[in-house]
Amino acid sequence: MATAAAQQTARTQPGTGRDGTVGTTDADDAFARAFDAAVAADERIEPRDWMPDAYRATLVRQIAQHAHSEIIGMQPEANWITRAPSLRRKAILMAKVQDEAGHGLYLYSAAETLGTGRDELLDKLHSGRQKYSSIFNYPTLTWADVGAIGWLVDGAAITNQVPLCRCSYGPYARAMVRICKEESFHQRQGYELLLALSKGTPEQHAMAQDAVDRWWWPSLMMFGPPDDESAHSAQSMAWKIKRHSNDELRQRFVDICVPQAESLGLTLPDPDLRWNEERGQHDFGAIDWTEFREVLKGNGPCNEQRITQRRRAHDEGAWVREAAAAHAAKHSRPGAGAPAAPAPTTASADTTGTTGAPQA
Ligand SMILES: [Fe+2]
Ligand SMILES: [Fe+2]
Repeated sequence: MATAAAQQTARTQPGTGRDGTVGTTDADDAFARAFDAAVAADERIEPRDWMPDAYRATLVRQIAQHAHSEIIGMQPEANWITRAPSLRRKAILMAKVQDEAGHGLYLYSAAETLGTGRDELLDKLHSGRQKYSSIFNYPTLTWADVGAIGWLVDGAAITNQVPLCRCSYGPYARAMVRICKEESFHQRQGYELLLALSKGTPEQHAMAQDAVDRWWWPSLMMFGPPDDESAHSAQSMAWKIKRHSNDELRQRFVDICVPQAESLGLTLPDPDLRWNEERGQHDFGAIDWTEFREVLKGNGPCNEQRITQRRRAHDEGAWVREAAAAHAAKHSRPGAGAPAAPAPTTASADTTGTTGAPQA
């Protein structure tokens, strides 16, 4: 029986094109078999391994959408940094928004290992050719929205992302381990913020309830369309990029949130939500998929504002990228006396998208 190291060598071909192309049909078959065997054995596929073009394209699409969501997701919350009600809350929110920038950077790096540059991905985001999560096209109207986003949006993200720590593509899986740890902090700060409001004055309680009423349904949409309409799910599951279906994860999220809402003293805005003894899970009402599709098409309350702000942040960061490139070039000249710094990529100084006026 081949050792893990031998199997690794069998599916790695130094010098092969980035698209995984190999010279002969026999070699193609051998690499494809090695890839299938590695996925079946729950091994990780690494950047130098041969992989099907469609597997690479699927990963680039998913990782890019994930990275874009992290950096666009900074905007609705950054809207409240200057108006946080205490220094403690401000420090927590700043740390959280900064974490989201970091998540974007880990993910753009993971996409780069597949041969796709950040500038290309950012260009696709800015021109509307790649998407980000529809949730970030909703406005943050009150301070309680910061709590609702942490509890529900980061909570939904964790439910989605914990299984990605076991994704078949190594760099993506490893990025997710750290991201999930930080998302867990985000979820707890949101819960704690809502708890403080819920236990506060009647006005504060009403503000918390209103935020949960507005964010609940969009959070359920974060898991994507129902399984029978999800175009990419079956293949992604076969490749072990995805481990659970959209509906499965959505159900898990609902079951987690119901007792938490009770502890918060808040209600979830769904008259059809009830425990189903037979299934051992909660039943819940129908999701308005028309709204989801409209927001995805660009007709949500803040789509235009988010992209405009993102483009502006990118343009305003140009001088930082140029300075970093000049610095790296200076230190990489022979005899410059300092270790060569890696050439910066275009997004390295430009992930915030949070400068300028309040966003929502
Ligand atoms: Fe994040
Ligand atoms: Fe987060």
